[in-house]
Amino acid sequence: MPDKSATKALLRVLRGEPVWPPPIWLMRQAGRYLPEYRALRESAGDFIAFCTTPELAAEATLQPVRRFGFDAAILFSDILILPWALGYEVRFVEGEGPVLPRFDAEQLDALDPGRLPDAVVPVLETIRRVRERLDYSTALIGFAGGPFTVASYMIEGGGSTDFPRTRAMAYQTPELFSALIERLTEATIAYLAAQAEAGAEALMVFESWAGLATPRSFRAHVIEPTRRIVADLKTAFPAIPVIGFPRLAGSLLGEFAQSVGADAVSVDWSTDPALAAALVPRGTALQGNLDPMALAVGGEALARETASILRALKGRPHVFNLGHGILPSTPPEHVADLVRLVRSA
Ligand code: CP3
Repeated sequence: MPDKSATKALLRVLRGEPVWPPPIWLMRQAGRYLPEYRALRESAGDFIAFCTTPELAAEATLQPVRRFGFDAAILFSDILILPWALGYEVRFVEGEGPVLPRFDAEQLDALDPGRLPDAVVPVLETIRRVRERLDYSTALIGFAGGPFTVASYMIEGGGSTDFPRTRAMAYQTPELFSALIERLTEATIAYLAAQAEAGAEALMVFESWAGLATPRSFRAHVIEPTRRIVADLKTAFPAIPVIGFPRLAGSLLGEFAQSVGADAVSVDWSTDPALAAALVPRGTALQGNLDPMALAVGGEALARETASILRALKGRPHVFNLGHGILPSTPPEHVADLVRLVRSA
């Protein structure tokens, strides 16, 4: 069989080849800013049921690709499906976001890796269905949360702006904190390997709250687990590229890129793309890093910010993306404008 993946711009870039104009997809491209998503969401009821019903999750995955012609689809799921699949209680409350029990020592043994294979069957089925329906040019990205970020939601019992319990626990009970990160790291490797086996063509690790860690904690709880995840996946699936996203890594972005060995690093919008390019090894792709607010605002701001990112990363392997997830207030027409701007560069 001919290697169809050679024609997918996203995969070429992730393998280190500069492609012009760069391929584009957007973090959280499936979601409430799309009327067709809101309609589907209403018919689905509970968010976890939505994520674990292959027909609905496949449809949510495909909606933004159909509307905008992105170069990649990203599996419709959530980073908190992993703790849920390990038997941890996870609920999504309307208007509030995720709600979980606050993690403590007793709950460590409630995380049961033996449950994972059966629990993620519907997610893997979603991947198979999406792969069947994508055309020759669109790649499918699987993903998981980074262990530090997933641990943060578990320790806090939900979302937070500054995750105080998480940061306190890293100092007060460092063994328990490390044991949680360790369990999540092992489970993440198994989960991402299963996604690759089911047909995911690239894998992304979302460390959305990495920027909250001190340098010491960042090295121990972000870099080291992600390095292990990448190394294990590379051994088992050498052809599947991995994208790391150490959001707000700041001065440690270069160290992350060099130590972790991911094929690409996704860059948040606070980081100067030219500096990111200088810090990251030349063969490592850069993904990003438009401010989601520039997309929500549109017009002149969108055109200017987009042009300056394209200019800064021209000649490097670059995947155009946002610096974080799309805002629910974003008019879909602005997304179509952005795709046109990038494709006509
Ligand atoms: O389109 C895609 O990107 C694929 C699907 C996807 C979702 N969540 C669907 C979702 C992905 C990749 C994620 C990742 C995710 N989830 C992250 C990492 C990326 C980031 O944004 O930092 C994090 C931290 C979460 C945890 C999470 N999930 C929160 C805090 C919330 C509530 C806030 C919110 O945005 O609604 C969710 C819910 C969630 N995950 C929704 C979607 C589409 C909204 C649920 C709804 O429709 O009501």
